[in-house]
Amino acid sequence: MSISIKTNNLLMEATHFIKKCYDELGISKDKQEKRIEDIKSEIYRTKTYSHKSFELSYGAKMAWRNNNRCIGRLLWNTLHVFDARNIFTAEAAYEKLIEHIDFAYNDGKVRSTITIFPPRINGVDPIRIWNHQLLRYAGYKNDDAVIGDSTSIKLTNMCERMGWQGKRTPFDILPLVIQEFEKSPKLFELPNELVKEVPITHPHLNDVSKLGVKWYAVPIISDMCLEIGGIEYPMAPFNGWYMGTEIGARNLADQDRYNLLPKIAEIMGLDINSSRSLWIDKALIELNIAVLHSYQEAGVTLIDHHTAAKQFKKFEENEIKSGRNVTGNWVWLIPPISPATTHIYHKPYKNNLETPNYFYQSDPS
Ligand code: ARG
Repeated sequence: MSISIKTNNLLMEATHFIKKCYDELGISKDKQEKRIEDIKSEIYRTKTYSHKSFELSYGAKMAWRNNNRCIGRLLWNTLHVFDARNIFTAEAAYEKLIEHIDFAYNDGKVRSTITIFPPRINGVDPIRIWNHQLLRYAGYKNDDAVIGDSTSIKLTNMCERMGWQGKRTPFDILPLVIQEFEKSPKLFELPNELVKEVPITHPHLNDVSKLGVKWYAVPIISDMCLEIGGIEYPMAPFNGWYMGTEIGARNLADQDRYNLLPKIAEIMGLDINSSRSLWIDKALIELNIAVLHSYQEAGVTLIDHHTAAKQFKKFEENEIKSGRNVTGNWVWLIPPISPATTHIYHKPYKNNLETPNYFYQSDPS
């Protein structure tokens, strides 16, 4: 029997994963060997293999633990995993995504959650979603100006070509765009009551509320590919909760996103003509205070970057205690405000790639 390089690689990846997963879960070497033999014959027969549900679940957690860009990894073992490998239609997938959003939001007490749809088999993706996040604002390009979120311009155009019509406010939630294999993508509007958002207010700069700015409660990344033991899951949306700076120092502050710093500075009465007045820095801090305050007021889980860094330190300690190497991507781990006030800034991290993991992938075709 001739075994292709691909099949052989898959078997190697599977073996590596099963050993690590079963060791960590304290499952005997006998059972590991038996499982690897079973997988081997399944791969020879079908060119692929299917994860048992505990393997899927633990693999998704390991993937989080291995994701070098994430500062929130202390909680990797608390991920809630939903197995949606039996879902093959866009309509049924939409139902599962609705359940995910509702479960993850949990009345503001956000739960880290992943829903895993069928794997890629012999290069075929049974189902894919085009959205970057399940909840995300549309972006419309008007000559040089952009209304809404500039990161969404491409998908917004696609939705409009498919007949969707946004209200053209800066905060129009995009519909979900789900595609079954070899079919055209389908649009699904999210029910309003499911879309939880937080109005941005400031504890004493009252005019901040007049800007009419808001952000959605839960970031649910939906365009990355989960890889476990050589098997790829191209549709596996997952969420944690926000760290304040993601919103206050990036989404709402970046010049090519919502660009709010000049408006905050105006409310604060700062001199924006001299960079030496540090108006940018002052406005940035107040905007971040507003984000922390607003999520607190709304009762929605969100962590500040100092607490997140402390949790990451604990994660590093735990990993060392468990005999694993800490890997991390320094450029991503340092928070975008006051980075040098966290321990992360002051040490190097090895950005080694371990699997399972979450990967970028190209758009569906
Ligand atoms: N930075 C992204 C955003 O602002 C979200 C990335 C995931 N963040 C998280 N806290 N799990 O929308």
